[in-house]
Amino acid sequence: IAAAAQPGQFITVRCGDFTLRRPFSVHQVSSQEIALLFKVAGKGTLWLSQQQRGESIDILGPLGKGFSIPLAKSGQSKHLLLIAGGIGIAPLVFLMQHASSQHQITLIHGASTAAQLYPFSSAGKKRSKLSPLPKGVQFIPVTEDGSMGQKGMATDILPDFLDWADQVYACGPVDMYKTMALPLNPSPLKGEGKGEGEKRSNLKLTKCQVSLEVRMGCGFGACYGCTINTKKGLKQVCRDGPVFELDDILWQEVRI
Ligand code: FES
Repeated sequence: IAAAAQPGQFITVRCGDFTLRRPFSVHQVSSQEIALLFKVAGKGTLWLSQQQRGESIDILGPLGKGFSIPLAKSGQSKHLLLIAGGIGIAPLVFLMQHASSQHQITLIHGASTAAQLYPFSSAGKKRSKLSPLPKGVQFIPVTEDGSMGQKGMATDILPDFLDWADQVYACGPVDMYKTMALPLNPSPLKGEGKGEGEKRSNLKLTKCQVSLEVRMGCGFGACYGCTINTKKGLKQVCRDGPVFELDDILWQEVRI
């Protein structure tokens, strides 16, 4: 899996005696290891969190189609804007690992409080399990309670970067995607008075790939349990995704 995984792909894990395998994005990859990042949100993830070093778990992958990353033709790097909502940072760290040597990256990471932001390890801590922020990446934290970075939601400041970005990647809750699929309002700060934000209202987000997280049965296209409706017809999140173009999804029909 470590050799084959691409950013945005996932694995499934059999969590104890639960029949349905749980999907997890590949979070980090090294030569012989992969890392998962997850929040305990139910019995399956609770079981996984209780496994000890040295125990074996049943995993399957890499599965699905991941992010499509532009090639840096003749050394021409692109501007990649990454939007992470909460634990949605998981696959974007792998994407940064993969793309930061070729492209310029800005990461906007939103969370409810500072404690929920991904704690990138500092450069000196070589033995940390956490990923360091790749060199050159601009990191912009946003918290709902204002405990770190700007107060608000990641999507509040997104419009300020749209002129800069050649490609946007997002991973987070469906409500974040639904906001992104609508015409975007200017950021509250820039929208005050006769600021730049007013001129930039009603921006439509194009060239945006999003990673969907849904309940899955088989994880590889056999059960149709993950089917969603898109502008291009019915799609299976596990096989056709989990990464889709934001604009292709019929968001009013998505219930996750
Ligand atoms: Fe079975 Fe997608 S989970 S088809």
